[in-house]
Amino acid sequence: MFRPRILAFLAIFRPVKVCNSSRMHYDVMIGAFLKRTFRSYSIVKPGYVKEMRTVPEHINSPVYYKTGKPPKSSKEIEIKTKEQIEKMRAAGQLARFILDEVGIKIRVGMTTDKIDEIVHNMAIEHGAYPSPLNYEGFPKSVCTSVNNVACHGIPDDRPLQDGDIINVDVTVYLNGYHGDCSSTFLIGDVDIEGIKLVNATYEALEAAMSICRPGEYFYSIGDVVEEVAKLRNYTVVPAYTGHGIGSYFHGPPDIIHCYNEYPGQMKPGMTFTIEPILSQGTGETVVLEDGWTGVTTDNSRTAQWEQTVLITESGFEVLTQ
Ligand code: MF3
Ligand code: CO
Ligand code: CO
Repeated sequence: MFRPRILAFLAIFRPVKVCNSSRMHYDVMIGAFLKRTFRSYSIVKPGYVKEMRTVPEHINSPVYYKTGKPPKSSKEIEIKTKEQIEKMRAAGQLARFILDEVGIKIRVGMTTDKIDEIVHNMAIEHGAYPSPLNYEGFPKSVCTSVNNVACHGIPDDRPLQDGDIINVDVTVYLNGYHGDCSSTFLIGDVDIEGIKLVNATYEALEAAMSICRPGEYFYSIGDVVEEVAKLRNYTVVPAYTGHGIGSYFHGPPDIIHCYNEYPGQMKPGMTFTIEPILSQGTGETVVLEDGWTGVTTDNSRTAQWEQTVLITESGFEVLTQ
């Protein structure tokens, strides 16, 4: 029987009596249709940044708290001792604990400055210094990057909106060692395209970690992240790299998330971060006049996830688990 295509399409939206489970399917289809048609996302412009928070005297602060200048880290990739690894574990676990707490509290209407307050106070409460604070002059205690902000967003007075995606990047300095991790959170009702971007970026980080073991090349991480990005139709943002980490926030090696020829192989005792950023549009970014906020040049959304890993004899251990 002849049935025009348009009618077959409209039939999906005809109210019909359905049992519970297919009712849900029906709602999801309508929801997806409406969102794809009418929903978009907010393009973020930097807002008002409050004055720097302070850290009490009893906290063991890195030298840059006063100077804004981190000391030069060595050119060699450090192999951590057992004692250093124990301290890296403690710092990593605290960073994760704080990030999880943010994940519980974050909601529509909360300003990114409020997230900064939560992270700052929790770090101090646990005897740690919030590593971003005055690092190369960064004015806040955490990075919050919303929608088209790819990286290093500065917490300000912008309340989170329904449908935002936000990366919260927590680093703490505990007993002389840094632990660094980030997640991208979905705020309220995020459209399906946003959810897919966030999930694909998580998948890229997981895939990249899964190849880590002694003898593996650092450049292989770029191959893996590119592979996942291609498969899911996203672009790698090449400007932001992972990094060696320890008593220093950033040191060798650079962990490049796109195709590259960076020299060197992983060895037991190395600790570094993996922190891919994927974009729905261009991978090109610019830094705004504040000297930090990195945005995509076409205002496309990005997502990022980060973990600090240790290379073990048999593979890897996630220090920010
Ligand atoms: N946590 C970020 C990273 O993953 C670095 C932030 S540096 C800051 O490397 F100064 F912006 F805080
Ligand atoms: Co980080
Ligand atoms: Co990092």
